[in-house]
Amino acid sequence: MNDQAENLRKAIEGLKGARLPDSGRLAEPGRQLGSGRQPDSGGQLDSGRRPDSGGQPDHGRQPAARRARAGPARVFAVTSGKGGVGKTNISANLAIALGEMGFRAAIIDADFGLSNVEVLFGAMPRFKLADAIRGEKTIDEILCDGPAGVKFISGGTGVEELVRLDAEQAAALIAGLSEADAEFDAIIIDTGAGLSDTVLCMCLAADEVILVATPEPTSVTDAYALIKLLSSRDREKEIRLVVNRAETPGEAEDIASKLAHVAARFLELDLRGLGYVLSDPLVVRSVKQQTPFMIGYPRSRASMCVRDIAARMMEGGAPRADGDGGDGKGLSGFLSRISRLLSAQYRA
Ligand SMILES: Nc1ncnc2c1ncn2[C@@H]1O[C@H](COP(=O)(O)OP(=O)(O)OP(=O)(O)O)[C@@H](O)[C@H]1O
Ligand SMILES: [Mg+2]
Repeated sequence: MNDQAENLRKAIEGLKGARLPDSGRLAEPGRQLGSGRQPDSGGQLDSGRRPDSGGQPDHGRQPAARRARAGPARVFAVTSGKGGVGKTNISANLAIALGEMGFRAAIIDADFGLSNVEVLFGAMPRFKLADAIRGEKTIDEILCDGPAGVKFISGGTGVEELVRLDAEQAAALIAGLSEADAEFDAIIIDTGAGLSDTVLCMCLAADEVILVATPEPTSVTDAYALIKLLSSRDREKEIRLVVNRAETPGEAEDIASKLAHVAARFLELDLRGLGYVLSDPLVVRSVKQQTPFMIGYPRSRASMCVRDIAARMMEGGAPRADGDGGDGKGLSGFLSRISRLLSAQYRA
C-alpha cells in the first residue's frame, strides 16, 4: 500500500499543469445547475449571498416544491478512504438539502458501533437497525425522526446481525424494506471509512457511491486506493467524487481533476465530480451545536455547496437495473445484496 501511495503521489505531482479531463471537473456552486437551487441562495459563493445571521443558528427554512418520483429509492453510499473527512456531515446535510428540494430522504448510519448521525442530529433513537434485523421491530419503528423531516436509521452493531441473518429473517426484513422503498426518493448510507470488507460491501451493494476526500495528500491517496479496490470488484460501479474542506473552488477542482486523471490513466475509470464543500468554520460550530449547518446556517457557504451537490446527485439516473445479481432495486435490493456479500465475505 505504501508503494501504491508513493506511486500515486508521484503521478499526481507529475500532472501539475496538465490539461484536465472534463469528467473530473467540478461546477462552482450556482453556476452549473439551476434545478434544485433555492431562489434566494444567490448565484455566487461570495458576492451573491446574504450575510449570515451573525453566526447564530437560523432555523428558518424555505418552502420547497415536492418532486416526488415513483419507483424504488436511489441508494447512495457516502464513503471515504481516510476517516474524518466529512462523510457524516455531508450525509446529514445532503439529506436536509434533498428535503428542501421536495425529495424524501433517509439516512442509514452504517458506521456500525460509532453512530455519529444521531450525535450530529442531537437525537437519541430508541431502536436500531439490529432490532429490525432480529425481527423485533418493524422498519417503521426503527425509522427515527431527524431534523427538517429527515428520517434516519441508527446502525448500532447491525453488521454482526446482518451476517447472521438466515433466509427467513432476510426475506422478512427485505419485505419490510420494500415498503420503505415506496416512502423515500433517496437513501443515504453513511459508511465507515477505509478499506474494510464491510465498507466495501456497502459500496458494492449501493446504486451509487459518493466518495468524499479532502485536499490533504493522505486523503487523496486513500481515496485512490478505495477507487482501485472498488473498481477491481465492479468495473461498472458509479463512483462520484466530493471534495470537502477545500479552501477555494479552484483547489477543489484541482484535486478532482487530478484524481480523475489518475483514475482514467491507471484504472481506465471515469471518475466524475459531484461537487465540493468549502472549508467553513460554521460547519465546526454546527457540529458543536448538534444542529446540521443546513438548518443552523442555511446561507453559509457550506450549505450552498451542499445544495448544489444535492441537485446534481438527483439529476437523471435511476437505480441501476443490471449487474445487481437479480436482487432488484432500491433499499430492499441493497439489503439483499449486502446480506449476500457480507455472508460470502465473512463465511469465506
Ligand atoms: N467543510 C468543512 N469545513 C470545516 N470543517 C469541516 C468541514 N467538513 C467537516 N469538518 C470537520 O471535520 C469533522 C469530521 O467530520 P465528519 O464527522 O463528518 O467526518 P467523517 O468522515 O464522518 O468521520 P469518520 O470517518 O470518523 O466517520 C467535523 O466534526 C468538522 O469539525
Ligand atoms: Mg462519520
